Amino acid sequence: MFNPNTSSLFSVIFLLIFTSFFPLNCYSQPQKNGNNSTKLKGMFVFGSSLADNGNNAFLDTVSKPIKFPYGVDFPLGPTGRYNNGKTVIDFLSELLQFPNFLPPFYDPSTHGSKILNGVNFASGGSGLLDDTGAGLKVPSMNKQMNNFVNTTLPELEKQLGMKREQFLGDYMFLVATAANDIGHYFGNPFKFNQTVEAYTSNLSQLLSAHVKNLYKLGGRKFVFIAVYPMGCYPRSVDQNRCNETLNSASKTYNSHLKTMIDDLNPQMPGSHLVFVNTFDIVLDMINRPTPLGFKDVENACCELDTPPMGKKTHSHCKKDNPKVCEDRKSHVFFDEAHTSEAANKVIATTAFDSKLQSLVYPINIAQLSLI
Ligand SMILES: *[C@@H]1O[C@H](CO)[C@@H](O)[C@H](O)[C@H]1NC(C)=O
Ligand SMILES: *[C@@H]1O[C@H](CO)[C@@H](O)[C@H](O)[C@H]1NC(C)=O
Ligand SMILES: *[C@@H]1O[C@H](CO)[C@@H](O)[C@H](O)[C@H]1NC(C)=O
Ligand SMILES: *[C@@H]1O[C@H](CO)[C@@H](O)[C@H](O)[C@H]1NC(C)=O
Ligand SMILES: *[C@@H]1O[C@H](CO)[C@@H](O)[C@H](O)[C@H]1NC(C)=O
Ligand SMILES: *[C@@H]1O[C@H](CO)[C@@H](O)[C@H](O)[C@H]1NC(C)=O
Repeated sequence: MFNPNTSSLFSVIFLLIFTSFFPLNCYSQPQKNGNNSTKLKGMFVFGSSLADNGNNAFLDTVSKPIKFPYGVDFPLGPTGRYNNGKTVIDFLSELLQFPNFLPPFYDPSTHGSKILNGVNFASGGSGLLDDTGAGLKVPSMNKQMNNFVNTTLPELEKQLGMKREQFLGDYMFLVATAANDIGHYFGNPFKFNQTVEAYTSNLSQLLSAHVKNLYKLGGRKFVFIAVYPMGCYPRSVDQNRCNETLNSASKTYNSHLKTMIDDLNPQMPGSHLVFVNTFDIVLDMINRPTPLGFKDVENACCELDTPPMGKKTHSHCKKDNPKVCEDRKSHVFFDEAHTSEAANKVIATTAFDSKLQSLVYPINIAQLSLI
């Protein structure tokens, strides 16, 4: 059984299997092949809880994971990240050798030189539709994009002394969203009267408009994180089985997302769009856990709040004195809907350097960073 003391052994095994490409110390001292040829100056991140690194902690919302056991393995403790440690975004920042983790937009100190390597706008509970996170009072994708365009971008121009189109091509734009929109659809059966197919197609069109706008501003490098297999989240698993309705809806959205990328490519000369198939990456962890060191693929690591009758809860790990599993590296899920740090490491590493186009398409993030 893994416990925190075996973590370095785990890392070594993990790295031998997955990143023989890197020196073994790449997580303690991020180094990319001893070769800092990345052309990326930084990244801007948009999306929901899987990418949120503390925005909600600064907002008036009930969805903010700022108490133990969230952050139990994070060097700074609970910061508003929705798991025990680092997010996929944190691992990507390390792999890309950015000097620091990205600052969250809503942190009042996110100004000046702190924004030079990018900013994270993601907010737990949010979606592509304004309506999706309205109940939680969190910034939707529209609002996150406005925050970028109206606040961060002008400030960055001042910091760099350059016009946006002179530098935005050197930043990566990463979007990880839509799971909450899918949840919203199933939570409100009479609201939409639309098929999953039509609803998720609409969602990808909303996203497409944002991407075109970012391109007009000068953005050239884009990464899209697919919706995870939502039917396999601990809150959805029933009698050891993933919920096929939710998995199928996730897949339907993802296929629209991939089509969007193929459609946008020729419309955006000089740009590069990458699709990360996190549906299959996570499903593979669930179906073949052993080689990756996972033992529990269906239970949350923390003790969950009991949802009110007939309601899906937004309060994740139990608030008061929750139990938390000791073998956190062997759990794929930390709470009812968020992957653990260990799973996030697998996801980020795969997105960064996998050569399998079925998982990261058409190029991986390492390759994107060298263009
Ligand atoms: C760094 O990487 C680039 C691209 O992969 C390669 O062309 C170059 O030779 C490398 N430089 C060193 C010092 O390894
Ligand atoms: C590589 O990174 C190191 C440390 O960040 C820096 O001092 C050095 O100048 C970089 N080298 C190149 C060729 O960019
Ligand atoms: C922010 O920018 C958007 C367009 O991107 C505009 O519609 C909106 O009114 C602006 N908001 C503020 C507060 O300036
Ligand atoms: C959706 O369909 C139901 C049943 O036909 C109807 O009662 C409801 O008003 C419709 N909702 C919307 C938003 O059109
Ligand atoms: C969403 O789809 C409906 C039809 O199903 C359509 O009337 C509506 O305009 C679409 N909205 C967007 C933003 O594409
Ligand atoms: C699967 O999830 C959907 C949407 O939340 C729900 O309506 C359905 O009852 C679930 N199916 C099973 C078998 O639990």
